[in-house]
Amino acid sequence: MTDDLFAEPPSPAARAAELRAQLHHHAHRYYTLDDPEIPDAEYDKLFRELQSIEAAHPELLTSDSPTQRVGGRVLEMFTPVRHAVPMLSINTETDTEPSGARNFDARVRRALGLTEADPPVDYVAELKFDGLAMSLRYEDGVLVQAATRGDGEVGEDVTTNIRTISQVPLRLPADAPPVLEVRGEVYMRRDQFEALNEAQRAKMAAGAKGEKTFVNPRNAAAGAVRQLDSRIAAQRPLSFFAYSWGEVQGDTAAPATQYDWLMRLKGWGFPVAEQTAKATGADALVAFHQRVGASRDQLPYDIDGVVYKVDSLALQKRLGFVTREPRWAVAHKYPAQEQLTTVLAIDVQVGRTGKLTPVAKLAPVFVGGVTVTNATLHNEDEARRKDVRVGDTVVVRRAGDVIPEVVSVLLDKRIGEPAPFTMPRSCPVCGSEAVREEGEVDFRCSGGLFCGAQRKQAILHFAQRRAVEVEGLGDKLVEQLVDTGVVKTLPDVYRLGFTALAGLDRMAEKSAKNIVEALEKSKRTTLPRFLFGLGIRHVGEATAKELARHFGQLDRIMDASVEALSEVSDVGPVVAQSIHTFFEQAHNREVVEQLRACGLTWEEGEPAERAPQPLAGKTFVLTGTFPSLSRDQAKDLLEAAGAKVAGSVSKKTDYVVAGAEAGSKLEKAQSLGVTVIDEAQMLALLPNAQGDS
Ligand code: IVH
Repeated sequence: MTDDLFAEPPSPAARAAELRAQLHHHAHRYYTLDDPEIPDAEYDKLFRELQSIEAAHPELLTSDSPTQRVGGRVLEMFTPVRHAVPMLSINTETDTEPSGARNFDARVRRALGLTEADPPVDYVAELKFDGLAMSLRYEDGVLVQAATRGDGEVGEDVTTNIRTISQVPLRLPADAPPVLEVRGEVYMRRDQFEALNEAQRAKMAAGAKGEKTFVNPRNAAAGAVRQLDSRIAAQRPLSFFAYSWGEVQGDTAAPATQYDWLMRLKGWGFPVAEQTAKATGADALVAFHQRVGASRDQLPYDIDGVVYKVDSLALQKRLGFVTREPRWAVAHKYPAQEQLTTVLAIDVQVGRTGKLTPVAKLAPVFVGGVTVTNATLHNEDEARRKDVRVGDTVVVRRAGDVIPEVVSVLLDKRIGEPAPFTMPRSCPVCGSEAVREEGEVDFRCSGGLFCGAQRKQAILHFAQRRAVEVEGLGDKLVEQLVDTGVVKTLPDVYRLGFTALAGLDRMAEKSAKNIVEALEKSKRTTLPRFLFGLGIRHVGEATAKELARHFGQLDRIMDASVEALSEVSDVGPVVAQSIHTFFEQAHNREVVEQLRACGLTWEEGEPAERAPQPLAGKTFVLTGTFPSLSRDQAKDLLEAAGAKVAGSVSKKTDYVVAGAEAGSKLEKAQSLGVTVIDEAQMLALLPNAQGDS
């Protein structure tokens, strides 16, 4: 399309030709490649524009116009299947207000010659699933063929792929007619779509060729159904809902209504949406549209509307068809979940764990029922792969409560040559270096304790029981301290006096006193606890202990080179680099100095040899209450001797240490034949008693 303001508007003939070319192009991307460039709403707009030109200028109508076609095209690669009964499409009510349902009821009543004096019409209200239509053919109760809709007359044979869907019965009960075609929708659940894209992104990050992410669940489902390699199709989780039927032969108990048909299909094992309801009269349809609309976000799958059908099959027959659409059914839409808008800027946000996320700031757009102004670009690779740039026209998607996402860029609408996006090399919140570790997709702020974005998380991590342990300093309190600005950095926590604490909302004097005492008590700590508490990426408790043992003193760790750090057992290059980067940041060193100045102390020593590791390679699980040790103490002892302590029992567990009131873990151990020992037997496995290092 040309956007030249000074050009003459194109003639209707030229515009129609242009629209046809565009619609052909987009239909090919959509139906054949499963990879549309523009949202459905945009396609519909172009389609309607062409329809209205053709209506005003019938001489311009061509037989190959996209308006003259029911659906997609048949792919060359699958065997064509001629449908015994054509697969129709339904007319769409585009007024997305619930009251739009009245238009349909009025049309039905008019067509049936009903007056106001006549009773309301009985309907069935269903969900309009956003997947792809499928016809399942059963002969003598056995699934013999599954075919896509194609152009409505001829579809594609995708039986092998459909057989992998567990919700599709392969065999029907004996009371099913000898020939039965069940029609319905194949779709992908939203959570499974997200997981699939997540996996695809990981494959792409790992350098896999020929992989891509999918624009939405429908395209992912379509891609899976038409996957030529059915092993791949089998790995793509698909689901099915039945809503109609095609050819039926030898039916001795044919129901008289749509609703009874659906219940019969359900009885034979086909999933039928539980929302499916009988609805009498227009008011009931309006209420259904409203009710489903309100809970649309909570559904585990996408719907793009609801469908109303006249319930009585006799009345359906009387109503018949207009061109190829039944007069007895209509699809009533909800606001689209994909729209076009422009990118005003690309910001970078810092999460609670320091993760940097590029976010597109958008010209406000109404999508999925809300006005969206931000959409995530996930990470640098995604932003660059989609090649989103400032000023671009993009497709934005918001479905369910999933955060809005930029799915693609309309490259032919790009003006000029805006710069490609690059991730900043420093944290936009605190200025610390931003690092992307090898094999990772995310950049992270290395500011840790210093970074405002990570403040709450960092304080909670430091104060937890297995780190420096400040009893009573939990979620709520940290939230309050940081949000009110009383605490800006971790050392500020140690500068809190009784007065400041007692002055907080909902803080009793007694509790304030307890926290002051807990802070005081926490000042005497150990080097491993302190190190672990700093929240250095990849430095867990075990690594902190090894570091402390190896170097003996904090200053030596802070000044160690990557090579020196790599000499510590269990510290690989990634961990060594992470520790080094952390202490390279002046702010992080400053925080450590301030904590020392606040009175935090621990014993330092000389570098020590590694303790003997007689339990290296053994996995333990602890359960129940032990006579002398706490669980934490037992865990420390085992880990010091080289053992791994896991949370649950499996075949790989070597020992379960059971104390009093041991529960399901003990039972599991017994059923798997894992060795069960008590505290005394555990102590006997250790070299000799060791203190908390
Ligand atoms: S009935 C003659 N019911 O919408 C009626 N269709 O254009 C045939 N769809 O291709 C369709 N949910 O893929 C019907 N509950 C539902 C539906 C539904 C989704 C899709 C179907 C069809 C298109 C209609």
